[in-house]
Amino acid sequence: MSEGLLATAYIIASALFILSLAGLSKQETSQRGLWCGVSGMAIALIATLSDPSVEGLAWIIAAMAAGAVIGLRLAGRVAMTEMPEMVAILHSFVGLAAVLVGYNSYFDHGEMSQVMQNIHLSEVFLGVFIGAVTFTGSVIAFGKLRGIVSSKALMLPHRHKLNLAAILVSFWLMVEFVGAGGNTVALVVMTLIALLFGWHLVASIGGADMPVVVSMLNSYSGWAAVAAGFMLSNDLLIVTGALVGSSGAILSYIMCKGMNRSFISVIAGGFGNDTTASSGEGLQGEHTATTPEEVAELLRGSSSVVITPGYGMAVAQAQYPVSEICHKLREMGIKVHFGIHPVAGRLPGHMNVLLAEARVPYDIVHDLEEINEELDSTDTVLVIGANDTVNPAAREPGSPIAGMPVLEVWNARNVVVFKRGMASGYAGVENPLFFNENTRMLFGDARESVENVLRAI
Ligand code: TAP
Repeated sequence: MSEGLLATAYIIASALFILSLAGLSKQETSQRGLWCGVSGMAIALIATLSDPSVEGLAWIIAAMAAGAVIGLRLAGRVAMTEMPEMVAILHSFVGLAAVLVGYNSYFDHGEMSQVMQNIHLSEVFLGVFIGAVTFTGSVIAFGKLRGIVSSKALMLPHRHKLNLAAILVSFWLMVEFVGAGGNTVALVVMTLIALLFGWHLVASIGGADMPVVVSMLNSYSGWAAVAAGFMLSNDLLIVTGALVGSSGAILSYIMCKGMNRSFISVIAGGFGNDTTASSGEGLQGEHTATTPEEVAELLRGSSSVVITPGYGMAVAQAQYPVSEICHKLREMGIKVHFGIHPVAGRLPGHMNVLLAEARVPYDIVHDLEEINEELDSTDTVLVIGANDTVNPAAREPGSPIAGMPVLEVWNARNVVVFKRGMASGYAGVENPLFFNENTRMLFGDARESVENVLRAI
C-alpha cells in the first residue's frame, strides 16, 4: 500500500471513530455508532498490516488470531453485570502494551540527532509511566469490581505525600534518563514506582466512586495509546488514543459533577477526602421484616408507587417480573413511576437498559432529580436490590459517601426493600434506611420475591 493510500485509509478510519463516538452518545443511534467503530477498526487494521514497513506479518497475524479466539470466547461468556470488570481488564492490557512498546522502542531504535533522541527518550519515559500506572490501576479496579479486592478506600498514613513523592522522584528520574541519553536503571526504577503509584491511586478510592475511576482509567488508557503512537510513529494510534483519552476525561468530569465529587480529588486518588469516616459499622437498630402477602396488600392500598432498582435487580434478573408488576398495578389504576440513580448497578445506564429490555414504557422512567421531587407524595416505594443509591448516610458529613446525591425514598409513606439479607452496598457503608419506622424488609432473591408479590396481588 502506497503512503498516500495509507494516509487516506487512516483519515477514513479516524472519521469513522468520531462518528462512532457521536452515534454511541444516544440510544437510538448507538447501533449505527457501534458499526462505525467496527468498520473504522477493520480499515485501520487492514491498512496497518498493508504498510510495507511492517515486518514479521506471519507473527502478527498468528498473535491476532490467538487474541481473537481468546477474546471471542471470554466476551461471549461475560454477563451484563460483569461488563465493567471486563472493561477494566481491557484497559490494563492497553497500559501493559504501552509499557512493552516503550521498552522495545528504548532498546531498539535507529540513529537519530541529539534533539530527536531527547524527544524520543521523553516519549519512552512518559509512555512507560502512563502505561504502568494504567496497568496496575486497572488491575486493582478489576479486583474491586469483581469483589476480590475490598471496595473500601485504602487509607495508608501520609498517602498524599506518598503520591507526591512518587511523582517528584519519577520527574527527577526522567531528567536523569533524558540527560544521560538513556539510563536503563532509571527506566526500571521509574517503572516500579509507576506500578506502585497506579495500584495506590485506585486502591485509595472508595467503592461509590468506582464509576468515575473506570472512566478515568479509560482516559488514561487513551493517553497510553497516544504515547505508544508517538513511539511507533503511527498517526492513527495518536488520533485514536487522543479520542479515547479526551472522551474518557469528559465522561469522568460529567460523572464527578453528577456525583457531587471533585474531579481533581478523584484523579488524585481521593485527595482531600481525608475522612477516616465511619462507614456506619455496627449501626444499631431493629428492622421490620415483611412477607409478599403484606407487600401485595400495601400495593393494593396505594394510589402511587415508585420503583427504584439497583444492582441486585440486575444480579437476580428481576426486571421481567418487575415489569409485570408495573403493568398489573397500572391496570389497577395505580400510578407507577421508576426512579433511576445515575450510578445504579455497575454500568452507566445499566438500569435503563434492563428496564427497556423488559419493555417498561420509557415515559415512566425518571432520573434522580425528577423522582426526588415526587417522593414525599408517594404512597409506596419498592427498592429492588438497591442500597448505596438509596442510603441516607450520604447526608452525613464524614461518611465515605457524603455529598453523593441519592434517591430520597425515606420521604415516601412506605418503603419496601427487596434484598437477601442486611449486607451493606458496594461502597461498604451501612444503610440506616433499613431501620426506619416506615421501612419493611422483604428478604430473598429479588426475582423470587417480586414473583411472589405478583402472585399475591
Ligand atoms: P449496591 O449498593 O451495589 O447494592 C446492591 C444490593 O443488592 C446489595 O446490598 C445486595 O444486598 C442486593 N442484592 C444482591 N444480589 C441480590 C439478589 N439476587 N436479590 C436481591 N438483592 C440482591 O447497588 P446500587 O444501589 O445499585 O449502587 C451501585 C453501587 O455500585 C454504587 O456504590 C456505585 O457507585 C457503584 N458502581 C456503579 C457503577 C456504575 S457506572 N453504575 C460502576 C461501578 C460501581 P444483599 O447481599 O443483602 O442481597
